[in-house]
Amino acid sequence: MRVALLGSGRGSNAEAVLRAQAEGRLGRAQVVGLWCDVPTCKMLELGPKYGVPARFLDTGPFKTKFAPEREQAWADDLQAAGVDLVVLAGFMRVIKAPLLEAFAGRIINLHPSLLPAFPGLDGIGQAWNAGVPASGCTVHWVNAEIDGGAHLGQSRVARAADDTLESFAQKVHAAEHALLPSVIARLSETLPR
Ligand code: GAR
Repeated sequence: MRVALLGSGRGSNAEAVLRAQAEGRLGRAQVVGLWCDVPTCKMLELGPKYGVPARFLDTGPFKTKFAPEREQAWADDLQAAGVDLVVLAGFMRVIKAPLLEAFAGRIINLHPSLLPAFPGLDGIGQAWNAGVPASGCTVHWVNAEIDGGAHLGQSRVARAADDTLESFAQKVHAAEHALLPSVIARLSETLPR
């Protein structure tokens, strides 16, 4: 199963997936490239580090969505790379028809809350400010509804009495780093070719 990792920032989840692959924990999945929508993002540095092609691709003038013709260009690039599964690993842009149609049933997203609670931006901060006793992370299929597709896996993270927002966020990120590779490994055994 040929996997594309899409991201916009730090890339710690992309790195968790690449580390899992290097350690033989990614099942039959193979990361074939990193695609970033921010030219300065740290995630691009993972390409040379792990020997995987990494590229910035322009998305057009908008902040949180693609220009339609640019989204088609992304779909074409991913298809040219023979990608079977698109993984949104910290990709902060809404996916619409061109990509959804090109990869129907083949795009998954990682979100830092126990969906359906706290969708959208800053899932960790939202949960923290709401004072919930626990939050966590979710991997789900991507459809036209933001953070709305069927769940593939969740990890729960309890909020300890002495947690700060920073320590709590670190725990959620650690849970993400375990959950995302495990879901990809599972899909690599079950996703029809
Ligand atoms: C992760 O916490 C991920 O769940 C979140 O962005 C972070 C990316 O971190 N994604 C979203 O909020 C998507 N709505 P990373 O760049 O270190 O992997």
